[in-house]
Amino acid sequence: MPTALVTGASRGLGAVFAARLARDGHDLVLVARDRMGLERVSASARRCGVAVEVVVADLSDERGLAAVQHRLADRSRPVDLLVNNAGVEGEGQFAVADMWDLQAEIDTNVTAVMRLTRAALPGMIERGRGGVVNVASFAGYLAGPGNAYAATKAWVLTFTDTVSASLAGTGVGMIALCAGRMRTGKHPVPEGASAMWLEPEAVVDECLADLARGRTLSVPGWRYRAVVDMLELPRRTLRTLAKLAGRGRQQQQPPAEAATVRLRAAA
Ligand SMILES: NC(=O)c1ccc[n+]([C@@H]2O[C@H](COP(=O)([O-])OP(=O)(O)OC[C@H]3O[C@@H](n4cnc5c(N)ncnc54)[C@H](OP(=O)(O)O)[C@@H]3O)[C@@H](O)[C@H]2O)c1
Repeated sequence: MPTALVTGASRGLGAVFAARLARDGHDLVLVARDRMGLERVSASARRCGVAVEVVVADLSDERGLAAVQHRLADRSRPVDLLVNNAGVEGEGQFAVADMWDLQAEIDTNVTAVMRLTRAALPGMIERGRGGVVNVASFAGYLAGPGNAYAATKAWVLTFTDTVSASLAGTGVGMIALCAGRMRTGKHPVPEGASAMWLEPEAVVDECLADLARGRTLSVPGWRYRAVVDMLELPRRTLRTLAKLAGRGRQQQQPPAEAATVRLRAAA
């Protein structure tokens, strides 16, 4: 059975990812701080006949993050799919936000995504298969007044774009999930705005289908997709022009095969 590790699996979107992956026959490693929440999600996943491991860890804390990194890098218990879902959205305006809350937001939404991906990829590349889902947000494209959240999600989008380009030919896929507002229970749904609110189950279905198709960006919901397609057009055009001019970023990258050999040697 393939194994999937889902961060932020104690509730919300992470719990929906866990349920869907269990139904698909994945053994699970579920990560979050709330043990009770994780136990609830794992009890329901086990009813699908899969094995579930619970890792109680705070990803904004060095010790917690190192434990999950270690689990991902364990070649004797390979993880085939990493879902970097855990995320926090600070409230209020930046200038008055608590400094430590801001730091925890960066640690969870950025540092943990980078370090867990770095821990998972060498084994996946070595095995010639695997996948990484990075949960970003529509806010990464269209920041409103607020604090650091939109910037962290813009980082997730660019990070996925860059790293996925270096994975071509390795058999490993990586996708950014650019989700609009979802009914995960985190935010109260305002009256009259329900057409913009997505069902998390449909978001997960679309994201996993996009990953299977080899896409690197998943934007569930046609309204959000239309806006992102428009915003992405200049970037796509620029990339094509850069490629044509022979100055594309990919040209500076070593071929995937050479990268794999180097990774193997370094392991
Ligand atoms: N809801 C939306 O409308 C929306 C829209 C776009 C993108 N997103 C993104 O989707 C993802 C999931 O959102 P959601 O709505 O499901 O949020 P949620 O209900 O608040 O769930 C967040 C999950 O992340 C975990 N988490 C938070 N901080 C953590 C930490 N330091 N260490 C370990 N786990 C931590 C939480 O578990 P514990 O508290 O148990 O640790 C929880 O399981 C996030 O990345 C979010 O930014 C959400």
